[in-house]
Amino acid sequence: MTIGITGATGQLGRLVVKKLKAKVPSADIVALIRTPARAAGLGISVRGADYDKPETLDPAFAGIDTLVLISSSELGQRRAAQHHNVIEAAKRTGVKRIVYTSLLHADTSPLNLADGHRGTEAGLRLSGIPFTILRNGWYTENYTASVPAALAGGAFLGSAGNGRISSALRVDYADAAVAVLTSDGHEGKTYELAGDEAYTLSDLAAEISRQTGRTIPYNNLPEADYAAALTGLGLPEPLAHAYASYDVGASQDALFDNGRQLSALIGQPTTPLATAVADALKQAG
Ligand SMILES: NC(=O)c1ccc[n+]([C@@H]2O[C@H](COP(=O)([O-])OP(=O)(O)OC[C@H]3O[C@@H](n4cnc5c(N)ncnc54)[C@H](OP(=O)(O)O)[C@@H]3O)[C@@H](O)[C@H]2O)c1
Repeated sequence: MTIGITGATGQLGRLVVKKLKAKVPSADIVALIRTPARAAGLGISVRGADYDKPETLDPAFAGIDTLVLISSSELGQRRAAQHHNVIEAAKRTGVKRIVYTSLLHADTSPLNLADGHRGTEAGLRLSGIPFTILRNGWYTENYTASVPAALAGGAFLGSAGNGRISSALRVDYADAAVAVLTSDGHEGKTYELAGDEAYTLSDLAAEISRQTGRTIPYNNLPEADYAAALTGLGLPEPLAHAYASYDVGASQDALFDNGRQLSALIGQPTTPLATAVADALKQAG
């Protein structure tokens, strides 16, 4: 059985490839990627596959039994169109199963990100191809990436209020992808994947304070002020506004889930927040 993985040069995709190689022969895994120049070190065969160029997808998918569609990093309508191209090519080339990385509670999520995922999930259901949907929750790394800025500025900034955040590390979501690829019984299933323990951004700031011995409070800002702060830190304006809006969603518990389906799927607890913070502090030097 040949497993093709899109987005294999991305941060999640690389982890999926690495962990899958520990479970199945490398000869059975193919990286389906946009930028072959980034493939060095993957250690599996590589085919060019650009979501925006349907003509690249049919040759890339030839002979692929299971396709792991890692959602595109493009935002908005274009992403839905890209995923549509992938599903249509999968139909044409006889792919037997698709595993798709969606968004936690994609059917009800207030995050504007959810629109494209809803469209792709509907496309999968209509495709006739057996599928498994991994509704991935927030990456803890999205927040721990702000640890250096918090240390430099003396406060952790955000707009998430007291929203409960059930994030998990990319490595936990990669384990979930490998679990559904290497065990039976996942066809037609939709998994809501999230970390075991929810935290607020105040909890996160307290953990950073505990581990550094400094006082780093959480400073909750109105959405526009947080977006401006992110722009000030060098983020492009559209991205800063998007991140601030996700935090407002978080304040409404859009990133919360207590079903513990992720740890059930991977057969171990998700990585604790304290470990994620320790890793981030190590990286920050
Ligand atoms: N759950 C969360 O918190 C969260 C946060 C951010 C994103 N996401 C979603 O999860 C996905 C995976 O996360 P990640 O951290 O691995 O993101 P990432 O590091 O940005 O990787 C995205 C991957 O998508 C590929 N890609 C983008 N446009 C493409 C196209 N036109 N054709 C083919 N491939 C294309 C990129 O290829 P290149 O290597 O060529 O650039 C890259 O490999 C993201 O793309 C996004 O949909 C989730």
